Amino acid sequence: MPASDVRTAVIPAAGLGTRFLPATKAVPKELLPVVDTPAIEYVVAEAAAAGLSEVLLITGRGKVAIVDHFDSNPPLEQVLEAKGDKARLAAIRRSNDLLQVHSVRQGEPKGLGHAVLQAKAHVDGHPFAVMLGDDLIDERDPLLRRMLEVQASHGGSVVALMEFPPSQISLYGCASLRGERDGDVVDIADLVEKPAAEEAPSNLGIVGRYVLSADIFEILERTPPGRGGEIQVTDAMAELAVRGEMRGVIFDGRRYDTGDRLGWLKATVLLACEREDLGPELRAWLRELTPRLPA
Ligand code: UTP
Repeated sequence: MPASDVRTAVIPAAGLGTRFLPATKAVPKELLPVVDTPAIEYVVAEAAAAGLSEVLLITGRGKVAIVDHFDSNPPLEQVLEAKGDKARLAAIRRSNDLLQVHSVRQGEPKGLGHAVLQAKAHVDGHPFAVMLGDDLIDERDPLLRRMLEVQASHGGSVVALMEFPPSQISLYGCASLRGERDGDVVDIADLVEKPAAEEAPSNLGIVGRYVLSADIFEILERTPPGRGGEIQVTDAMAELAVRGEMRGVIFDGRRYDTGDRLGWLKATVLLACEREDLGPELRAWLRELTPRLPA
């Protein structure tokens, strides 16, 4: 298996987070906690676990606190040290030590494709990963590592796909396939952004992990605004697919959609139930509560 030459995880975080208003009026949605850890820290930890060496955060207006989260905080550390609170000290230091963090500003949120384009100078011709903070992938089901393997052996670009029921496929970029699947790998012939259920070419929707070749930038530079008036990365990736340069890895592990209120609530409850410190009490309370819930 050839080694991956992908080093950088690009994490777009310049969106407006309108689905989470009013919480996201002043607080970036990437900093909303899932249990007690900001959503974005899970993503950076996932990049580190997959063997990447740096992240490039795409930020914008009102998002400075995201970058601060990855710096050390000496006054807070001194207070915790004086109290001898080793557990919290380790918890706040974890984000400083995960990976080297860079940031670049998008200027205006013109869409995910436009956000990715801001990484062009930084990645400098190398393939790179794109990770969306809205999709939290359970650390026990390593998806990005598998995608890096597939990109290293096949070249080109790779997206993560999951199977969705017809009622949900219109929320995702949808893949049409060339030939049969080979284990968890498929050859993508084309991509359609958020198709109506009856027009979807398959039940495979894109989830927020991509490994892209730098060829995407030249395409993004001439991609016009698409769905929602935004420059869509799916539209640019469709061109790579038509050229035969795009594969998909079909993921059947645990994924939580934390960009949406209901998905965020479910992820928080589920992950807290599994925690040693919170789980036993929370599980007991949920069992007691369930029969009393309104129908
Ligand atoms: P979304 O459309 O899901 O995020 O974009 P959003 O715009 O923040 O949220 P809603 O839909 O209004 O609630 C997916 C990812 O792309 C980033 C977002 O921050 C999110 O992580 N994004 C989107 C950008 O960085 N820039 C953009 O112009 C648009």
